[in-house]
Amino acid sequence: MVQSPRLEGNRTTLRSTGPEDLTFLQTLWNDGEVMRHVGYPLGLGIDEKGAREWLDRLEKDRGRDREHWIVEAKGEPIGEAFYRRCDEYCGYRAPKMAELDLKLKPEFWGRGYGSDALRTLATYLFAQGVETLVVSPNLENKAALRLYEKLGFTAKLRFHAEETGAMHAVLSITEARFKARLHRT
Ligand SMILES: CC(C)(COP(=O)(O)OP(=O)(O)OC[C@H]1O[C@@H](n2cnc3c(N)ncnc32)[C@H](O)[C@@H]1OP(=O)(O)O)[C@@H](O)C(=O)NCCC(=O)NCCS
Repeated sequence: MVQSPRLEGNRTTLRSTGPEDLTFLQTLWNDGEVMRHVGYPLGLGIDEKGAREWLDRLEKDRGRDREHWIVEAKGEPIGEAFYRRCDEYCGYRAPKMAELDLKLKPEFWGRGYGSDALRTLATYLFAQGVETLVVSPNLENKAALRLYEKLGFTAKLRFHAEETGAMHAVLSITEARFKARLHRT
């Protein structure tokens, strides 16, 4: 199995996701509170087989253009982090771009863990030669919008998600802007 590199933040650690994490991920993805703004207000409804298939699919491209981590705080799993390199994302184009995803269990929200994990992930990706990071939060997702804006992401465009009808924004950040903002966040 390909391992994702271990990333140490100030308050969180991102460690490579493996088969032993599938039960945790099922719980995370089946939580409607976590998945509400990504179109699954009742949770994803993924079972053990579905989770294993997801890991098998990840393994095919892991280390090539994507990685997946379990986010830990004080040695306990609190969420997931993911990136995938892409040329185009929800209608937005930039060279050497990567899309990000971050999801934490609700009991860990609002304690600065999301900011720390995102900062850690961004620092790693810019060091890997990525030039632009991109995300697409639901405009109702106030926590995600605040998190991204706080780190310096700026809005590029808006779109309607066909499956849900929800409005989303595409926000991005370059390495120069990320570094200029680092000391302020
Ligand atoms: C988005 C998410 C990762 C944020 O993680 P978090 O650990 O709660 O974030 P932080 O504690 O670092 O907070 C980041 C900022 O958002 C603010 N914030 C947190 N929750 C908020 C809310 N419900 N409304 C408005 N602002 C909020 C915080 O106050 C902080 O800003 P501040 O430093 O100016 O006070 C978390 O809410 C989550 O996992 N949500 C479900 C999955 C999801 O929607 N992921 C994003 C997909 S695009």
